[in-house]
Amino acid sequence: MRFDGKVVFVTGGALGIGRAACEIFAERGASVAIVDWDENAGNELATRVKQNGYPAVFHKVNVANFDDVQTAADSTVAAFGRIDSLVVSAGIQRYGTAVSTDEAQWDEVMGVNLKGAWNAAKACIPHIQKQGGSIVNVSSVQALASQQNVLAYTASKHGLIGLTRSMAMDFAKDGIRANAVCPGTVDTPMLQWAASLDPNPQSVYDACNAMHPLGRIAQPREIGEVIAFLAHESSSFVTGAVWTVDGGLLTQIGGVPKV
Ligand SMILES: NC(=O)c1ccc[n+]([C@@H]2O[C@H](COP(=O)([O-])OP(=O)(O)OC[C@H]3O[C@@H](n4cnc5c(N)ncnc54)[C@H](O)[C@@H]3O)[C@@H](O)[C@H]2O)c1
Repeated sequence: MRFDGKVVFVTGGALGIGRAACEIFAERGASVAIVDWDENAGNELATRVKQNGYPAVFHKVNVANFDDVQTAADSTVAAFGRIDSLVVSAGIQRYGTAVSTDEAQWDEVMGVNLKGAWNAAKACIPHIQKQGGSIVNVSSVQALASQQNVLAYTASKHGLIGLTRSMAMDFAKDGIRANAVCPGTVDTPMLQWAASLDPNPQSVYDACNAMHPLGRIAQPREIGEVIAFLAHESSSFVTGAVWTVDGGLLTQIGGVPKV
């Protein structure tokens, strides 16, 4: 799967799943725009990718701010001439119920996870429309099921599926495919942060490993490979799809039957 001559715009590209996707795209010939608000991690990745001989640029962006994203998209086209694929991986996790979530937290989560995806699409689609291409939104198993105490996150990830399907319908005529991936637990800085909230962080990792039928959590590249496939023309008849990449997590029914 080569991406020679292609330009990929990756929000949340500095760390975690987005970073793994950027590395895969670059290794396979794409020019990569790393779009993130973490300046240190973004610049470090762009420098390393360029040292390995691949074109990359970092844009410091808050995806919740449309003007930021628009500037990054236009700068990417100024630098590389086009945008073929958009990958939305920028996201944040927060905890709360319908009662304990306050308005600021709701707005923060929706602003990054859902409005951020819309902002990126709105800024990139006019460029992608020039030749066709693809959009891959990183949603979550929490778009399809839920846990306790994750109201805003779960609502945002469900919303991202609707955003994906809607765009798949609106832009199919332009040769733009839009798909979502729904990862189970992935070993990224987001998980490290979530585990650090527990007095025994290792117990969080142990529980996450155990709850997946494959007996372990994912590494970021295992999600990046599916993102790359959905971005690539190899998946040319896949659009509006929701792909779980969850080690079987959503396949199982709880409880062990007596035999
Ligand atoms: N790690 C998991 O277990 C897991 C599971 C399912 C889904 N996801 C989803 O995958 C995506 C990537 O998660 P991850 O685990 O790699 O997270 P991460 O925290 O490791 O990386 C997220 C990246 O997004 C960037 N970001 C966050 N808010 C931003 C903003 N407002 N503007 C610009 N950049 C911003 C961060 O700086 C970071 O580089 C998220 O949408 C997350 O919800 C993660």
